[in-house]
Amino acid sequence: MDLAKHLKSSIDIVKVIGEYVRLRRTGGAGRYMGLCPFHTEKTPSFSVNGTHQYYYCFGCNAKGSVIDFVMQLEGLTFFEAVKALAERFGVALPRRAEYSDEQTKLRAALYQMHELAARIYRSNLNSAAGSDTRDYLARRGLSPATIEEFGLGLSDNSWQTLTRRFEQEGFSREQMEASGLVSLRQDGSGFFDRFRGRLMFPIHDEPGRIIGFGGRAMATGDEPKYLNSQETLLYRKRHVLYNLHRAKASIRKQERVILVEGYMDVIGVAAAGIGEVVAGCGTSLKDTQVRMIHRHCDRVVVNFDPDTAGANAAERSIDILLDEKLNIRILELEEGLDPDEYIQRFGANRYREKADKAAGYFHWLADRARAKHDDGTAQGKWAAFQSVLPAIVKNSDKLEQAAVANDIASYLGVDANLVRDRLRSTGYESRGRAEKRAESNLPPVERILLNLLLADRGVREEIIPEMVALPGREQLQARRLFETICALYTQQGDFTFEDVGARLDDAGKALLTSVIFADEVGGESGSLEQARACLRELRLGCRKTAESALRSKIRAAEKAGDIAEALRLTEELSRLQREVNV
Ligand code: GTP
Ligand code: MN
Repeated sequence: MDLAKHLKSSIDIVKVIGEYVRLRRTGGAGRYMGLCPFHTEKTPSFSVNGTHQYYYCFGCNAKGSVIDFVMQLEGLTFFEAVKALAERFGVALPRRAEYSDEQTKLRAALYQMHELAARIYRSNLNSAAGSDTRDYLARRGLSPATIEEFGLGLSDNSWQTLTRRFEQEGFSREQMEASGLVSLRQDGSGFFDRFRGRLMFPIHDEPGRIIGFGGRAMATGDEPKYLNSQETLLYRKRHVLYNLHRAKASIRKQERVILVEGYMDVIGVAAAGIGEVVAGCGTSLKDTQVRMIHRHCDRVVVNFDPDTAGANAAERSIDILLDEKLNIRILELEEGLDPDEYIQRFGANRYREKADKAAGYFHWLADRARAKHDDGTAQGKWAAFQSVLPAIVKNSDKLEQAAVANDIASYLGVDANLVRDRLRSTGYESRGRAEKRAESNLPPVERILLNLLLADRGVREEIIPEMVALPGREQLQARRLFETICALYTQQGDFTFEDVGARLDDAGKALLTSVIFADEVGGESGSLEQARACLRELRLGCRKTAESALRSKIRAAEKAGDIAEALRLTEELSRLQREVNV
C-alpha cells in the first residue's frame, strides 16, 4: 500500500523508536543500540538502522519497519499504527474506507467516547453540583491548575448522563458495550453509567490518549473506595502505568522513576515538582509494566505505603523489578504516611531529599528478614541471610553479587567465609551474560560492499553495472544477495532495503539483516571510494579462484594425457589473465 511506503519514507524510525527506547549511537553511520522493549535484557541487543529505517533485536529476533514497531509495541493493528504515525507526524491520510478495518473503527469510536466522557466529567466538577468535590480537593491541597493538568472530573449520580450522550452522538450498541463506560442492564433493555458520584481520574496510554478511568468514591459508605475501568480493547491493565505519558520526559532527564501506589500519590508528588512519578492502577505490578519503565530508565525508587499491605506489595514488586534487571531503591516514609500525605505534612523539599537518599533494597529486605528470623542466635542470623540470598543472586553481575552478599552478611552478623562458600557451592556466581552481537560469516569485503550498495544511490549507479559484468561472481558467498540487488536495479531502476527483503527467502532475509547490522559498516563520506576498492578486491578474488580452478583442471588433463584439452585450458587461462590486466 502506497501510504505505508510514503509514511516509512517520511518518518524517521530513529525518532519514533527513540521516544520509547533510550538509544545510543554506535559504530557505523545511522546506527543505534538500546535495550530491547520486547524481551528482558541487561545489555543492549536491540539495534536500529537509520539508513535502512529498520530495527532488529539480536536477542529475540524482533524486527521490522517503523510501522511494525508501533504495531508490536502498542498492540495496534496495521491500520491503527499507520493512523497513529500519520497523525503524530502530520502526514495527510486519504479519507478512504480501505484505510480502516472493523477493529480500527471500533477503537477510534472508543477513543472518542473516552474523550467525551472526560469532558463531561470535567464540566460536572466545574458546575454547581461539583462544589463539594471541589472543596474536598482544595482540602487535600490540590490547586485548580493541578486539577486541570490531571484532567480530574466528577461522575454525577444520574446513572444516565453518559448513556444518553453516547446515544445522542449515534454510538452503536456494540460500541457502547465495548467502551466499558456504560453497562448493559440485566434485562438487556438499555445501558446505565458505570461510574456514579465519583471523583474521576483519566488514565492515559503512553502516547497520551485517554483509555480508561479510576473513580474514587465521594459519598461515605460507597464501596469500593476506588473503582477502575474494566479491561476493554483500549484499557489493558497490564500495559498501563498511571501518569507515564506526562512523566516520560522527567524520567529520562532524572534517570529514575518514583513508583507509588495511588493516583493521589502520583498527583501529590508531581504537583510538588517531581515529575518522574508513576503508579499502577490498582493492580499488583506486572512485568509488562516494569518493561515500560525500563525503556526509559534503569533506576526505580519504590515508595509504597508503609502499612503491611504496602510493604507486601513492595516486596512482590521488587521481585518483578529484579527479574527485569532494574536498579532498585526503597523510599520509606516515617509516621505511616503515604507519599501524598507526607508532602502535605513536610513539604516537597524534604520528600525530594528522602527520595534522593533512598537506600538500596537489600538493606530493606535484610531488615524485614531480620524481623522475621533473627532471634539473636547464629542459626537465626543465618536463616535471615538465607532468605535474602535468592534476591541477591538474581543480580546477574557476579562482582556485584559477591559485594552485596558480603555487605549484607556483615549487616546481619553472618560469617563472610560461610557466605562465600554458599555462593560458590550453589553455583550462583557463574551467571554472567555475554553481549549479543551481529553475526555474519560473510567475508568483510562482501559485507561492506553490500552495505554500500544498499545505502548509497551513487554507489549503485556506478557499481551495479560493473557487478553485472563481473566474471566469476557466482563464486561470491553472498551471490544470491548480489544477484537480487542487481536484478532489482536493472528491472526497476532503484529500490529500497525492504524491496530486497521482499524478494528473499527466510535465510536470505536473515543474511540481509546480519549484513546491515554488522559492526564495521563504513561512514557516510567516501562511500564511492570504498565501494571501488571493494570491487577491485572482489575482482581480484574472483580471478584468483577462477585461475586456480583452471590450473587444477589443466593438471588433471595433463595427467590423463589429454593434451588438446590441456592446451585449450591454458589458452583460456592466459585470456583470463590478459582480460583482467587491462
Ligand atoms: P486517597 O485515600 O484518596 O489518598 O487515595 P490513595 O491513592 O492514597 O489510595 P489508597 O492508598 O487507599 O490506594 C492506593 C491505590 O490502590 C489507589 O490509588 C487505587 O489505585 C487502588 N485501590 C485502593 N482501593 C481500591 C479498591 O477498593 N479497589 C480497587 N480496584 N483499587 C483500589
Ligand atoms: Mn492517600
